[in-house]
Amino acid sequence: MSRSVKIAPSILSADFSRLGEEITAIEAAGCDYIHVDVMDGHFVPNLTLGAPVISSLRKITKLPFDVHLMIDPAQPYLESFANAGADIITVHVEADVHLDRSLQLIRSLGKKAGVSLNPSTPAHTIECVLDKVDLILVMSVNPGFGGQFFIENQLDKIRTLREMIGSRPIELEVDGGVKVDNAARIVEAGADVLVAGSAVFSGGDYAGNISAIRDQLSRHS
Ligand code: DX5
Ligand code: ZN
Repeated sequence: MSRSVKIAPSILSADFSRLGEEITAIEAAGCDYIHVDVMDGHFVPNLTLGAPVISSLRKITKLPFDVHLMIDPAQPYLESFANAGADIITVHVEADVHLDRSLQLIRSLGKKAGVSLNPSTPAHTIECVLDKVDLILVMSVNPGFGGQFFIENQLDKIRTLREMIGSRPIELEVDGGVKVDNAARIVEAGADVLVAGSAVFSGGDYAGNISAIRDQLSRHS
């Protein structure tokens, strides 16, 4: 497990009344990406935030904004998320019959293109777009809420995707239920970016929480 693993705290678990300070705090705590969950109350049973919020947060940090769009449709909004300052824009395969076009559009806007799969969606559904993605996001919970349990059978999918990726420059990100006690297994299966919401924000010691995850990874490397 020599790969260098990135930690992407999901701000879904942050205190939304102090979002700017929370982002400053996780940056100081040593995270790599800021994971932003955008939900529409239609593709997933929850509502969060949109491009205007990302745009105001943009001045708080230079860290990459890893924007996870759980919205259907996504295509009409891609340009506004790009203009708001997203660095990686991820769309769901289940929410886009013209996935190829959306991925091309994201790249044409100068952003990294990501594709995400729900737990029930098999790996092969993205086989034909591998040349157009910079990141694959495996949902290891059913999207919509933080603080759920990791769905164990997603480890097989992570392994399959790692093989499918081969030597392509694609990051494999895992999102949902990532904790200190399963992080090493997830990375062993092939992940190189771990999204962690409740695991980073619980208890208030963000630096301690992030280093607890990193410690586990180095113990297994
Ligand atoms: C769920 C979101 C996740 C979530 C992760 O729909 O995509 O990013 O916030 O939260 P935890 O790490 O608490 O499962
Ligand atoms: Zn997410």
